[in-house]
Amino acid sequence: MRRPVLTTLRASALAAALMAPLALAAPAVASPAADAQSPADGEALAEEVLVIGHRGASGYRPEHTLASYELAARMGADFIEPDLVSTKDGVLVARHENEISTTTDVAEREEFADRQTTRTIDGVELTGWFTEDFTLEELRTLRAVERLPDLREENTLYDGLYQVPTFTEVLELRARLSEELGREIGVYPETKHPTYFDGIDLSLEEPLVAALEEAGLDEEDSPVFVQSFETANLRELAEDGLEVPLVQLLSATGAPYDLVAAGEDTTYADLSSAEGLEGVAEYASGVGPEKAQVVPRTADDELGEPTSFVDDAHDAGLLVHPYTFRNENSFLPAELREGEGQAEDLDDYGRALEEQRIFLELGVDGLFTDNPDTGVVARELFEADED
Ligand code: G3P
Ligand code: CA
Repeated sequence: MRRPVLTTLRASALAAALMAPLALAAPAVASPAADAQSPADGEALAEEVLVIGHRGASGYRPEHTLASYELAARMGADFIEPDLVSTKDGVLVARHENEISTTTDVAEREEFADRQTTRTIDGVELTGWFTEDFTLEELRTLRAVERLPDLREENTLYDGLYQVPTFTEVLELRARLSEELGREIGVYPETKHPTYFDGIDLSLEEPLVAALEEAGLDEEDSPVFVQSFETANLRELAEDGLEVPLVQLLSATGAPYDLVAAGEDTTYADLSSAEGLEGVAEYASGVGPEKAQVVPRTADDELGEPTSFVDDAHDAGLLVHPYTFRNENSFLPAELREGEGQAEDLDDYGRALEEQRIFLELGVDGLFTDNPDTGVVARELFEADED
């Protein structure tokens, strides 16, 4: 089944601040991908290029907290991105991993010391504390901390302030901010480790769909994308009639874990070929490639020659939302880093706008970014030059 293409009316941060809060901007509009013409090479498929607040505004606040999501929306992000895992009692909460020792204070909490354990998640053995061992009530006693304290030392200012939010709270925040800012803030949930959670009877998809339905966000033109690195869950959501657009996440290496677990040998490289993308378009409206699949890095860690990925995806009718754009030298190609190239420069900002410009010129339809304000500026500069 071909999924609809979502285009979203968006506003810049400045425009949003100027807009009267009395009326919401028109909500997201869907149009069938089957009706869409493949754009010329180097042009976006979407009417509007999206700025997606990756884990909120995680360049400025501990990730996956309401504070991070709220800041992203106020900075002009069109969508906020919660990664989702389950508690012991089946509640979806926003965390990048079910192992939470790097993003919460759980390791400091004596009352939970005996919950430390070792699990194999998607074939990788991990020792730590896992959300599926905590009820929501227990999890709510924890506080979020910055994942990258050495790189993002300023964010540690907020360590200990924020709880782990539920998906429902994220949706409520989305609705409140949409009203206040006068434009629809979209939500871009990702189910994490769905095969693993299926295996412990804490399937993620049913509560995800229920929460979207409860929030009135289950229509084909709802400001929602549902994304996953696995494939079977997305296919099932499509087959079960979830109408919101689906996004297949891809990677420069490896294979979807559901396919690995099923003994299949299809890799992300297979799914990312022109033929593979045609297959993805049977159930998804878009793809989320790793940046290196669009512009590989050379042996010197500089940007290499762009691949045909964006054009191949567009030819298949798929939107392209690459991940993840970040301002720090640590994440930028060598030629865009600022400073003397010393280790202490890694947390300084480099020429992130130039990196994003290169991807925008290749026709990407959105940017996952830890720094939504920078993404908004990159898009404004690009669109101003296009006019
Ligand atoms: O979902 C897009 C991007 O977030 C995928 O990477 O690992 O940050 O979830 P990750
Ligand atoms: Ca994600």
